[in-house]
Amino acid sequence: MNSPELKWLSDTSVFEVNRLPAHSDHTYYATMEEARREEAMDWRYSLNGSWKFHYAANVESRPQSFYEMDTDCSGWDTIQVPGHIQLQGYGKPQYVNTMYPWDGISPVRPPEIPQDSNPVGSYVKTFTKPEKMKGQPLFISFQGVESALYVWLNGQFVGYSEDSFTPAEFDLTSFVTDGENKLAVEVYQRSTGSWLEDQDFWRFSGIFRDVYLYTMPEVHISDLKVRTELDESFETGVLHVDAETEADLHFILENRNGQVVAEGASPLTIKRPHLWSAESPYLYQLFIQVRNSSGELVEVIPQKVGFRRFEMKNKIMHLNGKRIVFKGVNRHEFNCRSGRAITKEDMIWDIKTMKQNNINAVRTSHYPNQTEWYNLCDEYGLYVIDEMNLETHGSWQKMGKVDTAWTIPGNKPEWQDIVLDRAKSMYERDKNHPSILIWSCGNESHAGEVILNISKYFKQQDPSRLVHYEGVFYDREYNATSDMESRMYAKPADIEEYLFSDPDKPYISCEYIHAMGNSLGGMYKYTDLEEKYPMYQGGFIWDFIDQALVKKDRFGQEFLAYGGDFDDRPTDYNFCGNGIVTSDRKLSPKMQEVKFLYQNIKLFPDQKGVLVKNDQLFEGTEAYELGWTILKNGLPQQGNVADVQLNPLSEQYISLDIPHFEEPGEYAIHASLCLKEKTIWAEAGHEVAFGQYIYTIEQKAAEPAGNVTVVEGDVIIGVHGDDFHVLFSKASGTLISLQYAGSEMIAAPPYPLFWRARTDNDKGNQFAFKSSGWYTSSLVRKCTNVELTTGEHSAAIAFDYVLPISEAVQATVTYTVYGDGSVHVKNDYKGAGQLPDMPIHALSFKVPADYSQLDWYAMGPEENYEDRAKGARLCRFQNAASDNVSPYLAPQESGARTGVRFVKISNENKKGLAIHFINDPLTCTISPYTAFELENAAHHYELPPVHYTVVTVAGRQMGVGGDDSWGAPVHDEHRIHSENEMTFEFMVQPL
Ligand code: GAL
Ligand code: MG
Repeated sequence: MNSPELKWLSDTSVFEVNRLPAHSDHTYYATMEEARREEAMDWRYSLNGSWKFHYAANVESRPQSFYEMDTDCSGWDTIQVPGHIQLQGYGKPQYVNTMYPWDGISPVRPPEIPQDSNPVGSYVKTFTKPEKMKGQPLFISFQGVESALYVWLNGQFVGYSEDSFTPAEFDLTSFVTDGENKLAVEVYQRSTGSWLEDQDFWRFSGIFRDVYLYTMPEVHISDLKVRTELDESFETGVLHVDAETEADLHFILENRNGQVVAEGASPLTIKRPHLWSAESPYLYQLFIQVRNSSGELVEVIPQKVGFRRFEMKNKIMHLNGKRIVFKGVNRHEFNCRSGRAITKEDMIWDIKTMKQNNINAVRTSHYPNQTEWYNLCDEYGLYVIDEMNLETHGSWQKMGKVDTAWTIPGNKPEWQDIVLDRAKSMYERDKNHPSILIWSCGNESHAGEVILNISKYFKQQDPSRLVHYEGVFYDREYNATSDMESRMYAKPADIEEYLFSDPDKPYISCEYIHAMGNSLGGMYKYTDLEEKYPMYQGGFIWDFIDQALVKKDRFGQEFLAYGGDFDDRPTDYNFCGNGIVTSDRKLSPKMQEVKFLYQNIKLFPDQKGVLVKNDQLFEGTEAYELGWTILKNGLPQQGNVADVQLNPLSEQYISLDIPHFEEPGEYAIHASLCLKEKTIWAEAGHEVAFGQYIYTIEQKAAEPAGNVTVVEGDVIIGVHGDDFHVLFSKASGTLISLQYAGSEMIAAPPYPLFWRARTDNDKGNQFAFKSSGWYTSSLVRKCTNVELTTGEHSAAIAFDYVLPISEAVQATVTYTVYGDGSVHVKNDYKGAGQLPDMPIHALSFKVPADYSQLDWYAMGPEENYEDRAKGARLCRFQNAASDNVSPYLAPQESGARTGVRFVKISNENKKGLAIHFINDPLTCTISPYTAFELENAAHHYELPPVHYTVVTVAGRQMGVGGDDSWGAPVHDEHRIHSENEMTFEFMVQPL
């Protein structure tokens, strides 16, 4: 096939023309010294950088003969390679989840592709064969091009390829000249490949990964397969290297210190090898020396080798003989400025962040990543599910319902080869990475013969790994496709039901706990299963990083844009933001919970010591120092460090000299394990585990001193004391003024609040449809009675309210003013009959924005909710009201703290007020914005200028939930059943 044809784009049988066979991703050098340095390869020459570029919105308008030598493209625009076309000023990015991006635009069915909306990027790069490559054969490698490319050199057709996420390589030898060469690449956004690439992500096109020329020495190993075998006792490791060659190969295996541990021909045997695991990613360095027929060394391949054994034993996945638990996360390759064209720095940030937060596994959702990522996973230690580039979600699931009228690939033989090609391209490239434990046959592509055959292919190629596929959930006839039961978003109870059913396969959640916006509530219900059920082997959070793109608003300010913001339609809007880190790579407050629940070592302190539980499978605790601190009312009193020496999978109670205090107060004992020394992923002192114990020595609170004077006017009731004035209005039905030392604290008066700005999860489960009565009841109420009671040193004013939700509901707020200016606030609520769940039981008011400095004694330091507070600790911490607007893509409830003992709200001069708990700790949200302002803003730039600090003090706020964001309710124990009676109280005091 030497003349390119447009119809290949919609022909399932043509997915490559002249593409070279896929092969392992090893590098190769001329000498041992170069191989040892592993610097840029002499035999590679990067073509990254500026290319000439033409964009055509559709196939008709593309410059058809641009590849010819006499077509002058020098006047064209330039584009950066690697990079997406749509992020460099051409066309627009489009975000859609399951539906195909042309849904409702073009009526095509597979394998036909939209004719009128198939943007074409025509790329031209001129190059001269690098000096070092003169006289050598020449090849080109495209590491990733979306979604189909045609290549010409010097006017002659070279080849064609699909599959956006694996390399396409071609032989240029017969086309290249010693002079200037014209390389022309035509990239189509739509191809048969697009039907197989319906992942939930931004839809882009273009050359988005590296492009390089390469050559090779006279004798070259183009593909090698490294296998390590370990005997039952893990005493002997055997290294096999398979390479198809006639050449004489010599192997040198060095340990981490550069000492040769084995040398000779394959297989190499070593005694007591250091094993590779995520806990201890020990890599040996193998050098493969290749000689020509006269015995000269012509090529040296440096190859990292990890000895490890991964297997299914008694229906449980084992690594190196131990049951493994995946503390995983799904990760898209993403950068908010460059989309899926990410750099090594991005990858290093990602992997360090994962390691620092106790994540031990990653699923490359939903396509093979750049090679560098697997190198990093080998080196830093992360277990990988490597997922092939296959998703056909929109072909079988519509509006959440399964409809298999035109499912692909199903049992359709015409899709077999094109799908298998993707499996091969991934397998062949990635097979030598010890970090990869599991091959995944793609995502959300239903089930059938085609995918079953993919699974068979992986198994036949590679008995050293297992095969994963979730889609058999939809057709159990193809259960054999997957070695493990894998589900997405199965709820804890469903998982338990499965585990109770005497199943054949262990369980993992390939996706769970949907981290969209303010979410991750109830994650502990999943991690709780780890200890209970041996066949529960963990899960992968959805997902690591928000997919939002930097854009400018109409005033030129940058913001993080989501679907629809580029006028992209159809779109699924902010459903692209489900990360535990933001798209500009900052930790979201959800990470606090992940880090705690994924701990490999657990600490349970009490007043005399700490129980240390080492859940690590292979490592002791030598790398860490145990520290403890005793805090009184949140302030550290004393602390020390101790040594811990625990074997893997063991526990020990360590007695500590924690002093005993007699004075009344609340005490917390914090225990933490910190790295003694710097590692590649964290600094010395980095905390890997934390535990706390809280106890109280009771104290009888003294009655506030001083007297009050009450002036009952016709409308206003004033309560006055030494340097303070409090006014209540019978007309407004509330407290309207709180003056401390001449400064007015109340900018908007307190009223009961029953609404929180809906979270993405609240929206997804239509919470408001049932509960919107609480929204109106927060905006309007009727004060039915005002009652003044005067005591000797105090005056109490009670306001009774009826609410729109039901006349039968009673809400009363009673303010008792004491002689020292403190105001005791009691909120009584009495439900009646059948009422919908209440989002929050609170009182909310505004103070001027001058009072925006916060000093907390609460669960923190990051935002937490009653179903997401395991990772929070009781401590003192400071922040500003604006810090409590978390960077979720769409504004929503955020920044709450549970367990609030007190929070001081002050201005620059430390004046202001403090909120203190009485009896039960509070949940407080202190923010520049009201629930209603947040509710009404779809982007942060829609929020109003800040004039106030909004103080919301709650007895309870319901949990945030997180099982999924499209219907799962908050777990029952974290909901507020509003039929009941509820009370909360607090004290407001001057600062
Ligand atoms: C899953 C899918 C992911 C993502 C997620 C929702 O169904 O595999 O790619 O779409 O749901 O955010
Ligand atoms: Mg999908």
